[in-house]
Amino acid sequence: MNIPIALLGFGNVGRAFAALMARKAGALRRDYNLDITLVGIATKSHGAVIDPDGLDPAAFGEAKALGEPMPTLDFIAQCPAGAFLEGTSTNPFDGQPALDFVRAALRKGAHVVSANKGPVVFAHRELQALAREKGVGFFFESTVMDGAPVLGIAREGLPGAEVRRIRGIFNSTTNLILTLMEAAGMDFDAALAETQRLGLAETDPTLDVDGWDASIKTAILANVMMGSDLRPKDVDRRGIAGITREDVRQAAGKGERIRLICEAVRAEGGAVQARVAPERVPKDSSFGGVMGTTSIVEFETDTLPCLTVIEHDPGPMTTAYGMLADLINLARGRANETAR
Ligand SMILES: NC(=O)c1ccc[n+]([C@@H]2O[C@H](COP(=O)([O-])OP(=O)(O)OC[C@H]3O[C@@H](n4cnc5c(N)ncnc54)[C@H](OP(=O)(O)O)[C@@H]3O)[C@@H](O)[C@H]2O)c1
Repeated sequence: MNIPIALLGFGNVGRAFAALMARKAGALRRDYNLDITLVGIATKSHGAVIDPDGLDPAAFGEAKALGEPMPTLDFIAQCPAGAFLEGTSTNPFDGQPALDFVRAALRKGAHVVSANKGPVVFAHRELQALAREKGVGFFFESTVMDGAPVLGIAREGLPGAEVRRIRGIFNSTTNLILTLMEAAGMDFDAALAETQRLGLAETDPTLDVDGWDASIKTAILANVMMGSDLRPKDVDRRGIAGITREDVRQAAGKGERIRLICEAVRAEGGAVQARVAPERVPKDSSFGGVMGTTSIVEFETDTLPCLTVIEHDPGPMTTAYGMLADLINLARGRANETAR
C-alpha cells in the first residue's frame, strides 16, 4: 500500500516527521507493506511545495523557503495527498485556522493525523463524524503526551472498561519550572527564563504557565475517554504563576513537591468535571517522582483500579513518532473509535 502524504506545518514536528519517515521507510515496507510518499509541504511564511511524484523528505532538513506562498486551504485542495498531517500552530481559543484545514482535508476524502490540539479539543465529535461519513480516519495520538500511546490505550487496550478518573501531569514547561525552583533554588522568574533559554517555553509563556495547555489536554482525554464534551474554558483552571520559592521550600520540608495536576472525574450524576491546579504531592509518590519535562497519566477504571503511563524526556521526535504510529494504524485499517 502506498499512502501519499502532505505536511501542514514544517516546524519542529514537521521536520522531525520528515526525518523519521526517511529513517523508517525500509522497516515500514518490510513489516507493514507500507510506502509513504511525501507529496506536499505547506507553511505559513516559508511557502509551499507540491510534487505528485514525491519529494525527498531528507532534502528539507532546515529548509527556509520551500516554494511560492500559497493559502493553506488552496494547498489542501490542490495537493494529491491521501493523508494530511496537521502540524501547524495550536490556537487554544477556537482551534482555527487548523480546524478548517482538518475539515477541508476530511471533506475531500483524505485521512487526517493531527498533532495540533486545537481542532481536537474544539470539534473532536464533528470531525470524527465527518471522517466516518467520508470513510477515512481522523487520528490524533500526538496531541496528549506527545507520541506516548495514551489515546491508543483507550482505543485498543481498554475495551469495555469505564474510565472513572484521569489524573496526570501534562505540561512539560511548568513541570520543568517547578523542578528548577526546587532543585536549583530559583525563583519563578529565573526558572521561567531558564526554560525559555532551553527553548522549551515560548516567548509568551502564558499558555503553559496559566494552565491553558494542560486544560486542553485534560479536556481532550476526558472527551475521548469519558464521553464528555468539554472545551478548555470548561476546565477549572489555575496555573503556577503565583507559586513562590518559599512555597516550594515549605513543601520540600514536608517531603512534598508542588506539581501542576490535571484531573477529570465523573461526579455524582454522571457529569465529568475537570480541573488543573498546583497541588502538593509526596516526593515518593508516582507524581512526586515526575521531574523536568517528563509527564504522567493515571487512569482509574471500573476494571483496572489504576493504570499508569510515564513518558520520559519527550521532544519533537516523540511527537513525530505518534503521528507515524497513527499513519500505520490507518494503513492497518484501524478505526479511531472508542465506545463513547
Ligand atoms: N513540539 C512538540 O514536541 C509538540 C508536541 C505535541 C504537539 N505539538 C503540536 O504540534 C504542532 C506543531 O508544533 P511545532 O513545535 O512543530 O510548531 P512550530 O515549530 O512553531 O511550527 C509550526 C509550523 O506550522 C506552520 N504554520 C503555522 N500557521 C500555519 C498556517 N496557517 N498554514 C500553514 N502552515 C502554518 C508554520 O509555518 P512557518 O514555518 O512559515 O512559520 C510552521 O512551519 C503544534 O500544534 C503543537 O501544539 C507539538
